[in-house]
Amino acid sequence: MYQFMKGSAHQLAAPEIAVAAIPEDERVWVPQAPDVWFRPLMLNTRHGQWCNLLRVRRSGVLSRHLHPNPVHGFVLKGKWHYLEHDWIASEGSYVFEPPGEIHTLTVPDDCAEMITFFNITGCMIYLDGDNKHVGYEDVFTKIDMCRKHYIDVGLGADYVDQFVR
Ligand SMILES: [Fe+2]
Repeated sequence: MYQFMKGSAHQLAAPEIAVAAIPEDERVWVPQAPDVWFRPLMLNTRHGQWCNLLRVRRSGVLSRHLHPNPVHGFVLKGKWHYLEHDWIASEGSYVFEPPGEIHTLTVPDDCAEMITFFNITGCMIYLDGDNKHVGYEDVFTKIDMCRKHYIDVGLGADYVDQFVR
């Protein structure tokens, strides 16, 4: 039987993390746009991947985008949909977004707040209505946003480090 050795790769793994996903401290939420925030959970610089909660307190179109890698989502609160599909992601829904698909994230008028967990690899490529590239995000722009925000709210630039792998 295999014996796990002291000093083996298993002991070199990045430290585990367990946090309350919805933080008690409001400052942990990083503003993304008016009435839109994200809460970092795991920022993986090795694989260019990140896990976060997205919180939205307004209705309407949030973004039109594509991502070249798969995205997994789980809705904790509220609901949203993509204009390109006829399903609604609501509380308890799991969403799989295949690589390469272009879609338009929209929150319906009767939803005061939605919170969704997203596991994203690679990047988000933002598009206008003509599918012209207008911006992008990856794990590094996310870390930069966190650092700036945590400085501004007094948590300190290194507050984000606990989420970085
Ligand atoms: Fe997406």
